[in-house]
Amino acid sequence: MTPDGSPMLGDFLDDAAIAALKTPSLAEARGLPASVYTSEGFFALEQRRLFPRTWTGVAFDADLPAPGDAVPVSVAGVPIVVLRDGSGTVRAFHNVCRHRATIVLTEPCRGLKQLQCPYHAWTYGLDGALLATPFWDGTAKSERQPVDAAANGLVPVRCGVWNHVIFVNLADNAPPLEEHVAPMAAGFSHLDMDALRCGYRTSWEFNANWKLVMDNWEVYHHVWVHEGIFERMSDEVDLETGEPYTETVADGSTMILKATARRPERSLDTAADGSTLPPLPSVAGVAQKHGMANAVLPNTTLTLGPSAYVPGIYTPVAPGVTRAEMAWYFAPEAATGPEHEAARGAALDRWIGPTRSKDDQRGIRPQDHRCMELQQAARASPVADDVKFSPVWEAGVRYFQTWLVDRLR
Ligand code: FES
Repeated sequence: MTPDGSPMLGDFLDDAAIAALKTPSLAEARGLPASVYTSEGFFALEQRRLFPRTWTGVAFDADLPAPGDAVPVSVAGVPIVVLRDGSGTVRAFHNVCRHRATIVLTEPCRGLKQLQCPYHAWTYGLDGALLATPFWDGTAKSERQPVDAAANGLVPVRCGVWNHVIFVNLADNAPPLEEHVAPMAAGFSHLDMDALRCGYRTSWEFNANWKLVMDNWEVYHHVWVHEGIFERMSDEVDLETGEPYTETVADGSTMILKATARRPERSLDTAADGSTLPPLPSVAGVAQKHGMANAVLPNTTLTLGPSAYVPGIYTPVAPGVTRAEMAWYFAPEAATGPEHEAARGAALDRWIGPTRSKDDQRGIRPQDHRCMELQQAARASPVADDVKFSPVWEAGVRYFQTWLVDRLR
């Protein structure tokens, strides 16, 4: 514990536990103990040492389709507003009025010309500039004792948009977003990502720790959890040799689950009427044959299929509660066109089930989240600390856990 009483990594993981996580043999390694998923203290440690220091996904560009659109978000409990300014640029600011520190934007809004604090009506431009402080000195324009506008605009937060995800970073000295995602950039370079359009957007909460999302970045569970979607183990691994048809490519703050050339091709986005979605537009004339499941640590996933791109943002709410934000992007003609409605619906059925509800166990994400809830519940047990990794499938899980520990030291 620090002198001010804040928890430290050593309160949860001693040197032996860290050595067990990092031991060279994956088969002998041991994963993070249950308390890092359940305790308020570890949650506070992450909120203090991890999330304020890294790039964190907070929203999608489709949440801000036009100038003047704005949404309130938060990172590590810090309130932030992201908005699209008059020129179309996405910006982020601390969502705090410079008068007496009140939340300025309380709910998503469209087409704003300016932001106005709900308390005493201090008014800010979409560039954050302080525009008005009505009756500050008793006069309508507060001209007798004007507030120094240059020193009292909304405080900017570093912000960037990458592949339709809006990332923010509270740290002024962190490397740029482009560097954070650089190892993953090549995997998107053959596609015209800017051309994609959002065809569906949803969000929900589930009762599990946010880290279980990244712990789930493996295909070992596919045929059991996603029955009917990933059907045969022979699609995932050479049954003779045990060689999986997916490899984990982890580098820096990125993890990619990438199909090898041997993985059987699938056509998943086919509707009952036989219609299919058009492929994602390519800049190189190269069709995407296989899906790629990408994770930008700590909280963003970007899954790329032949005809849909599905980014997800996972925000810690409490040790045992996570909020999921998901968006589905398609080729522009497929995002909303009625001729593609059936195939679009089939793709969404596969992801979140025909009812589109968070509990529809026919969809991949509700199935995943249910498993995460089972894992969270198990972590109340005194025997939940002995966590093992498959040497064939779960190198990425250990990579993420090691990445986390190294950032909390
Ligand atoms: S606190 Fe915002 S105007 Fe007073």
